[in-house]
Amino acid sequence: MLKLPELGEALPAAHPGAHAIEMLWRRRSTPADFLGSPGPDEKALRTMLTIAARVPDHRRVTPFRFVIFEGDARARFGKVLRNAFAANEPEAEDQRVDCEQNRFMRAPVVIAVISSVSPAHRTPEWEQILSAGAVCQNLLLAASAHGFAAQWITEWYAYDEQVISALGLGENERIAGFIYVGTAKEDPLERARPIMDAIISRY
Ligand SMILES: Cc1cc2nc3c(=O)[nH]c(=O)nc-3n(C[C@H](O)[C@H](O)[C@H](O)COP(=O)(O)O)c2cc1C
Repeated sequence: MLKLPELGEALPAAHPGAHAIEMLWRRRSTPADFLGSPGPDEKALRTMLTIAARVPDHRRVTPFRFVIFEGDARARFGKVLRNAFAANEPEAEDQRVDCEQNRFMRAPVVIAVISSVSPAHRTPEWEQILSAGAVCQNLLLAASAHGFAAQWITEWYAYDEQVISALGLGENERIAGFIYVGTAKEDPLERARPIMDAIISRY
């Protein structure tokens, strides 16, 4: 494994390479339903999270944190999902409630990326939130570089008060995303992408 840079160590300003370009050019999320085992082991996961945390962060606020769900914790959290869903949709059929309970069982590892804003800080809230979004994308790239497939998901439970409270989120915290990580059971197909001429202009 590569050694983490020491504080103040000189680092390359760029990392040109066909491999990196290919990964970025062809990167694709794998829907959670198509994820399976294995997931990253503890060491690989730690490395992936360390890479994910290496995002641009104006004035070094670290406006994010991680919550890892693996093994039995996924099933334990499933009970929270079940109760929250059943409370919101009391008429829902059992089959649907079971499906909601099993959401986290779709992948061996799920990481909640929490946006943790410091409102009193000089760095605008918007910038702090953007950093947390960058963490999610970095985590997808780190997973891919480690040979894992992943998807960034929010679904309904990222916004559910009961779920948010069970996760112990603070007043200035929000879920930036749940990153599902595993091994693709099937390779994803390319999806439609932006028409570049429609989103590029010159000033
Ligand atoms: C903040 C955020 C939340 C998302 N939530 C969901 C979701 O709940 N369900 C879903 O199917 N895709 C969701 N997506 C989209 C997927 O992560 C992914 O972008 C999509 O499957 C397209 O794949 P791609 O990454 O290859 O472009 C979300 C994306 C973002 C940025």
